[in-house]
Amino acid sequence: MYNDNPTIADLEKTVDESKQGEVFFDGGKIPGQKSFYIESYGCQMNFSDSEIVASILAESGYGPTRNMEVADLILINTCSIREKAEYNVRRRLGVFNRVKRERPEVMIGILGCMAERLKSKLLEEEKLVDLVVGPDAYRDIPNLISSAEEGDQSINVLLSREETYADISPMRLGTNGVSAFISIMRGCDNMCSFCVVPFTRGRERSRNAFSIIAEATELVKNGYKEVTLLGQNVDSYKWENPETKEKVTFAQLLEMVALVSPEMRVRFSTSHPKDITDEVLYTIAKYENICNYIHLPVQSGNSRILKKMNRTYTREWYKERVDSIYRIIPDCAISADIITGFCSETEEDHQETLSIMEYTNYTMSYMFFYSERPGTLAAKKYEDDIPLELKKRRLAEVIEMQNKLSFDSNKLDIGKTFKVLIEGNSKKSDQHWKGKNDQFKMLIFPKTGDHKAGDYVMVRVDEVNQATLKGEMV
Ligand code: 5AD
Ligand code: SF4
Repeated sequence: MYNDNPTIADLEKTVDESKQGEVFFDGGKIPGQKSFYIESYGCQMNFSDSEIVASILAESGYGPTRNMEVADLILINTCSIREKAEYNVRRRLGVFNRVKRERPEVMIGILGCMAERLKSKLLEEEKLVDLVVGPDAYRDIPNLISSAEEGDQSINVLLSREETYADISPMRLGTNGVSAFISIMRGCDNMCSFCVVPFTRGRERSRNAFSIIAEATELVKNGYKEVTLLGQNVDSYKWENPETKEKVTFAQLLEMVALVSPEMRVRFSTSHPKDITDEVLYTIAKYENICNYIHLPVQSGNSRILKKMNRTYTREWYKERVDSIYRIIPDCAISADIITGFCSETEEDHQETLSIMEYTNYTMSYMFFYSERPGTLAAKKYEDDIPLELKKRRLAEVIEMQNKLSFDSNKLDIGKTFKVLIEGNSKKSDQHWKGKNDQFKMLIFPKTGDHKAGDYVMVRVDEVNQATLKGEMV
């Protein structure tokens, strides 16, 4: 789930901006120890990768700091998904370079998708950074730091067919101690024509299932209550045990993780409509602790546009998947990613996006206008022919539709009681808790009794707006 569109940020009410660029950790700098400062942008996978990077750096004696002014190493984990995302990263690099002008010994590193996409250009043309490290090269960071210290160019953007960082125990950053992410796969083989991810994150590969279970077990031991399994396309997870040759599918993995502890909620993201199976849906229905919430990006509601996007499903296929979800998991919430103004999109095509939103009845969506990315199939094959103003007008209509659907759905929750996992203080008041229900809806309620973050409580909904439910513990 991404957000990088400040020009329409005020319209994009459903996008969680709070996490963008979040800086992590409690600790300050420990005297005598080298320290690193890291910011992450883009998808949850980037936040999860930053935790792997932190762990690799800790092994080589670097400690985390929240204060870039004192850091020896400043890192930015970047996103290339839309032009705006890269623009935001460049702005931050400008800030880091001001720190470097005052303290030339500070090293600046760019990680992630933008490093992969722009490669040595970042070192040569712009001289903005000392290190350039692609998503599959994080183990090499300590060596790259050494080369940079000796004045050599430090870049590793090799993509791998095997790397899953399976053996690295992530250093949990910026954690609320309640929810954590586990990467279950990397890369993407789908080649959606608008998307840069297959080029920046390489081929799809699935992580050893046992290492995933071990990580989930460790989280439970440390008091975590919610885990989100992450991948660009989790439904195509497939891992073969090299000894027994037994294969593990996503449905089986989901079940294995659910069985780690009935007290731990299991979520997952992202599902691809072409791959989500009934077996997965039955597994969700079978386990109380697998949340009834599916993020199922539709992108467009029109079959011709879907074909051009290389999504490999039609409007009818998508609707059938939605029907199956509601048949097998009646109270399931569904959310989407939607793109407006893709190449050649007509007014009628756009209306079909609005109508599939109504059909599916999304509780939430992440909505964007199309941004052409260099090197993608769409950039090579199709003209980016929808004027920006039209893309934005259609986006505004999509957002308006989503706001209506969210509000209507939330109104139906008035009077209902939900099991909520307390995540911490609400943003606006330390007299209120915030937490989510099974359907990924956020609830705000006054603190009464003796509870703490990580507790499950029952909350009755009294009042709603389009973004949150308000209520009281019962
Ligand atoms: N332009 C606009 N949105 C995009 N996305 C991916 N690539 C682009 C692009 N070029 C959106 C898709 C995807 C989400 C992560 O970002 O909706 O599901
Ligand atoms: Fe991009 Fe499509 Fe892969 Fe998602 S499934 S990362 S949109 S190519």
